[in-house]
Amino acid sequence: MDKIIIEGGKRLSGTIPISGAKNAALTLIPCALLTEEPLTLRNLPRLADIDGFQHLMNQFGITTSIQGTRPEDFGRVMTLEAPRITSTVAPYELVRKMRASILVLGPMLARMGEATVSLPGGCAIGNRPIDLHLKAIEAFGAEIELAQGYVRARAPDGGLPGGEFDFPVVSVGATENALMAAVLANGTSRLFNAAREPEIVDLCNLLVAMGAQIEGIGTSDVTIHGVRRLHGATYRVMADRIEAGSYACAAAITGGDVLLEGAKAEEMQATLHALRNIGIHVESEAKGVRVGANGRLRAVNLSTAPYPGLATDMQAQLMALLTRAEGTSVLTETIFENRYMHVPELNRMGANIETSGRTAIVHGVERLTGAEVMATDLRASMSLVIAGLAAEGQTQVRRLYHLDRGYERLEEKLALVGAQVERIGDE
Ligand code: EPZ
Repeated sequence: MDKIIIEGGKRLSGTIPISGAKNAALTLIPCALLTEEPLTLRNLPRLADIDGFQHLMNQFGITTSIQGTRPEDFGRVMTLEAPRITSTVAPYELVRKMRASILVLGPMLARMGEATVSLPGGCAIGNRPIDLHLKAIEAFGAEIELAQGYVRARAPDGGLPGGEFDFPVVSVGATENALMAAVLANGTSRLFNAAREPEIVDLCNLLVAMGAQIEGIGTSDVTIHGVRRLHGATYRVMADRIEAGSYACAAAITGGDVLLEGAKAEEMQATLHALRNIGIHVESEAKGVRVGANGRLRAVNLSTAPYPGLATDMQAQLMALLTRAEGTSVLTETIFENRYMHVPELNRMGANIETSGRTAIVHGVERLTGAEVMATDLRASMSLVIAGLAAEGQTQVRRLYHLDRGYERLEEKLALVGAQVERIGDE
């Protein structure tokens, strides 16, 4: 396992290239199941989870090839070809390592009329049930059976008829699975209270590029008219709004001035609004989003919510920033039940944070001090890196595999803007 060593106190300045969005890529890749023709995805981030998904797709008999980018480039081009599917089973040993594998359920069912996927199980931030995924595709006419830790879904002979589903809770993954199940159904399907995240819009845009008929893209009321078949496409993955927001917090906590190249302000409005309230200068430019800070940070109250609300995936990073604000901030995590595991580690760096259930109270402090800290989940790890960039002295963040799941070549990108950061092998 690797660790990252940060010498804090360096002001970040310059340009950070933002990679393709992990959470868009993880729902675009399984779309290859929906057509016999090649699907080429551009701007795919080089991340462990993307490699894992590529391996899972190979498991189904899908060939994948990586083209045309130099090792020093960020991002990759991947072509997936699925003229025939040799297995409809997503096995436990692959799904347990990457819970986003559940996103093969809808497209596999749509293509093959059946799918067997290991239950993903929980993770560090919560028990992450998939009941809404199953209820949605059941509403479209699938038969669902749970046995031996697997979901077995089957469509009636002749394919899914389609149907309607009203989400009691907004769910990104369940919306994605339902969309990918409905595009090849025999009839029309409707989703109410569907998730509206930009990654869902990216999925819908790809599906339409493949020949799907979808109305209400980007809204919570989506209608899908099933078509008989979809064709291949070449599609560029959207920029990662969470990676961009994470580096915005890194620039802000160091009093820096950084251009987040490729970031789209319109996809991260809630994060940019929070940063402005904290006293950070944020400007949308032709090449991306510029973030500038003068070192003074104001305490604010924040609450996560489904898009267009503040992304839960930004909570830990904004909390790290607020540890240095003047005053007390109150954060409320409304999406996941256990997403404060970064708090004890931040407090070991001199932060002063109390948590009670879904609420965290962040009392701003004058200084943070470097420490050896442990990553626990993807976004918690990034919050420790952000704190380490502003802390006095050296910070070592261990168990970097958590970071490698969501941040492409993090230490290279931070070094581009003047951070003193080094990655070394850990015992
Ligand atoms: C996606 O997870 C993202 N992952 C998460 O990002 C992100 O935090 C989350 O959406 C919310 O924005 C990917 O896109 C791969 P949900 P997902 O279904 O789809 C409950 C990261 O750091 N729920 O929107 O699993 C659930 O427990 C990751 O990049 C059910 O009750 O999230 C949660 O409380 C972490 N039943 C809420 O809904 C279900 O069937 C939202 O979950 C599904 C979800």
